Amino acid sequence: MFKRFRRTRLNKHLRSLVRETSVSVEDFIYPLFVRSGEGIKTEVSSMPGVFQMSIDEAIKECGELKKLGLYSIILFGIPDVKDSIGSDALCEHGIIAEAIRSIKKVHPDMFVVTDLCFCEYTDHGHCGIIDEVHETVDNDATLEISGQQAIVHAKAGADMIAPSGMMDGIIEVLRTSLDKAGYENLPIMSYSTKFASGYYGPFRDVAESTPSFGDRSTYQMDPANRREAIAESVSDELQGADILMVKPALAYLDLVREIKDATSLPMAVYNVSGEYAMLKFAGKNDLIDYDRVVMETMISFKRAGADIIISYHAKEVAKMLQKS
Ligand code: PBG
Ligand code: ZN
Repeated sequence: MFKRFRRTRLNKHLRSLVRETSVSVEDFIYPLFVRSGEGIKTEVSSMPGVFQMSIDEAIKECGELKKLGLYSIILFGIPDVKDSIGSDALCEHGIIAEAIRSIKKVHPDMFVVTDLCFCEYTDHGHCGIIDEVHETVDNDATLEISGQQAIVHAKAGADMIAPSGMMDGIIEVLRTSLDKAGYENLPIMSYSTKFASGYYGPFRDVAESTPSFGDRSTYQMDPANRREAIAESVSDELQGADILMVKPALAYLDLVREIKDATSLPMAVYNVSGEYAMLKFAGKNDLIDYDRVVMETMISFKRAGADIIISYHAKEVAKMLQKS
């Protein structure tokens, strides 16, 4: 049989007709960091373009996001007071509950996802209650209060809950608590495959959540383990998660593909703070064509199998898409 060895060079029109992957503004969830006060909008030095905002500013920001076609946010709270169990996260008048309520009131059409964890709310900066004897997080004690945190988010009007603490068994616990409280249709997006990563550095500046001792490697995953990474996501699918996630994104795209193929749930990637900072500072120093590299990066997430991209670049991408 004749096998043609030279491929026809396609023109621009045909190249876009046959393109396999595309990026759309609808793929994105934009992270917002809220704190108490009024008129506060403080840029984070390690993440130019990312701000800690008071609730009134976050409400304004949502207006800007909607103009760009961005209708999904994920909220992180920075409380005034931190303590050993992260009480602010369990209180109906805590920062996150107030933020959800206020944002939904002004922007009912905004899809509000909440990050469910304790590290921003604890004085030790770990993702759960500390087992003093073993100087590590007490998985099951943390599960007990996680259900409570989920109900606080749900009551305040969250549209989706995203547990990020990597506690074993959390999806089942949250699903059960939410169902019992009448929130059977509130979806859970699990940070199902989350690695212990150096790429979270800048986030911990914004969220003021650097652990005061030790690190998170007892509960977050070892970057060297592929099979464990897949098993963690498969387990969360079985426990009732609605959406799975790989985090960070760029160094783990092999696993985005593998988990996409091994499960039947939609997949999210978290394009984390350190990934953002790398491109930002390379761009600022004219080392790369920033817009082009950002788009290339976003396409790589979609090509790997991501349905949802959580990214600090979302606004910039939306603007680029409007122009093109
Ligand atoms: C909280 C949480 C973290 C991120 C999202 N949720 C920090 C961490 O686990 O240390 C990281 C996001 C980023 O780096 O952009 N558990
Ligand atoms: Zn955490």
